[in-house]
Amino acid sequence: MSAHETAGAGTGAEIDPRQFRTVLGQFCTGVTIITTIDDDAPVGFACQSFAALSLDPPLVLFCPTKASRSWAAIERSGRFAVNVLAEEQQSTCARFGSREPDKFAGIDWTPSPLGSPILTGSLAHIDCTVETVHDGGDHYVVFGRVHSMSEIKTERPLLFYRGQYTGIEPDKTVPAKWRDDLEAFLTTANEDTWL
Ligand SMILES: Cc1cc2nc3c(=O)[nH]c(=O)nc-3n(C[C@H](O)[C@H](O)[C@H](O)COP(=O)(O)O)c2cc1C
Repeated sequence: MSAHETAGAGTGAEIDPRQFRTVLGQFCTGVTIITTIDDDAPVGFACQSFAALSLDPPLVLFCPTKASRSWAAIERSGRFAVNVLAEEQQSTCARFGSREPDKFAGIDWTPSPLGSPILTGSLAHIDCTVETVHDGGDHYVVFGRVHSMSEIKTERPLLFYRGQYTGIEPDKTVPAKWRDDLEAFLTTANEDTWL
């Protein structure tokens, strides 16, 4: 079957939602808290669906559910900060992933250059404006233009896997002959690299 036929086949109605969640939960990700300022108040939500998109121009993406109150606030403000979470920020993540009315109670933060909240203790932050918004079923796919970023830190990231928080020890077991390629993939920017 060609890729075209696969994309067009069926309505998706035959996909069992529980199996969908379980299978997709096998895909381990980092976790972010995406924030903005709305009506002078800080707003934010836990977001796993974050990714680097483009180096030139510098773009990232995230996917908020259409029901997200935080997304409605980001759409109004036109700007957001991505806080990449460190291993120690599990409880902060759980709070921002809930319907808690005052998610920022007891949370230390400072404003980014564009004014969006940077949570103290985050592993990295990326300061963005909303570039474009695309329909994604029951979610939107939001492209953001990167304006500035944090310095590099050495703490370990918080991970989300099979519906649970976890962490990772850096693995130095990549065979030496491939380690240089891996390093180049992460650091080189030219026409034939992905990012
Ligand atoms: C680890 C984790 C990852 C999440 N990833 C997303 C995501 O990618 N997109 C999304 O819309 N909601 C995601 N959520 C759920 C939202 O954080 C949650 O629905 C939040 O309560 C929305 O709040 P809001 O209505 O204030 O925006 C995630 C939650 C957790 C705990």
